[in-house]
Amino acid sequence: MTTLLTPIEILRPTRLEFGAGRAPVVGDWAAERGLSRFLVVTGRSNAARVDALGLKGAVTIFGTVKPEPDIPNLHDALALTEQAKADCVIGFGGGSALDLAKLVAVLPGSGQAIHDVVGPEKVRGRGVALVQVPTTAGTGSEAGTRALVTDPATQQKLAVQSRHMLADLAVIDPDLMLSVPRSITAFTGVDALAHCVECFTSKRAHPLVDLHVLEGIRLVGRYLPRAIADGSDREARAGLALASLYGGYGLGPVNTTAGHAIAYPLGTRHHLAHGLACALIFPHTLAFNAPAMPEKTQAVLEALGTPDALGWCAALGIDMRLRAHGIPEADLPAMAKDAHAIRRLLDNNPRDISEAEILDLYRRAF
Ligand SMILES: [Fe+2]
Repeated sequence: MTTLLTPIEILRPTRLEFGAGRAPVVGDWAAERGLSRFLVVTGRSNAARVDALGLKGAVTIFGTVKPEPDIPNLHDALALTEQAKADCVIGFGGGSALDLAKLVAVLPGSGQAIHDVVGPEKVRGRGVALVQVPTTAGTGSEAGTRALVTDPATQQKLAVQSRHMLADLAVIDPDLMLSVPRSITAFTGVDALAHCVECFTSKRAHPLVDLHVLEGIRLVGRYLPRAIADGSDREARAGLALASLYGGYGLGPVNTTAGHAIAYPLGTRHHLAHGLACALIFPHTLAFNAPAMPEKTQAVLEALGTPDALGWCAALGIDMRLRAHGIPEADLPAMAKDAHAIRRLLDNNPRDISEAEILDLYRRAF
């Protein structure tokens, strides 16, 4: 399946800064370019530390990004953007903030609404600079071209993909992640792991991406238990930030498969945090896919350093039962129907999975 003859396009942020204490580079970079009106898209806790970015000029903060942002949340951000007249949009936070920042950078003044840009390369252009600064190690969204937002009318995730949503500058400062609580560290770390594993085992897997995502799996295996044991372990935080970035390198050209498709209804229908949802589902899809790619599955487990992915996740302190997180058993068939409809991901899964098999998987995870 993995072949050197498969074409692939790689897009990366124009400039990428990685390193502890590098956050103020954002302000220097903006000043060099004469940018002076900033809109920072962020969540409540990060809104209190925007100073870390060293911005010089007029700073407007949209500080109410919701986890799993939906269209009303996007519309609130767009309304503030119109007022702010920013020349630079900065995503500062977890994946939700980074994704929303991408949309906020391209939609205002474009004449396009969210439903006009769903799918690949529908965005017409971008008139402002875009900077991404992650504060969790999970999504790798800082390096990518995709943004997800939930449509409350259908409870589905809308996926927008555009080269115009790629950052001019991404600054990955693992010291910004030192304060991430233990449980969020665990969920986001497994999300990064799931990105790496799903890209590595996808039908669209490519040697150019495999190199990064396999190393990402190794980094999560080595550093996630350490970061959970001691959140102030700077080396472990840096290792996870790198793993997250490597997962992000896979998301654009390859993307996730069944693990994310089957995890999505947990978030869209029952509001589980994305990382937690992925953690609960990831070991089950890995096991389901194993017969279709035994060698790659073995490589994943070796890189992770365990023969038992489910046990490994549980040892991080995550209760791996769906029921423990408020998922009602009666909703499993509807969740399976929703998941099975996410063809953009399932069509690249290495093993075909039916709606009945998804339901079976949910029951095993329940
Ligand atoms: Fe994810």
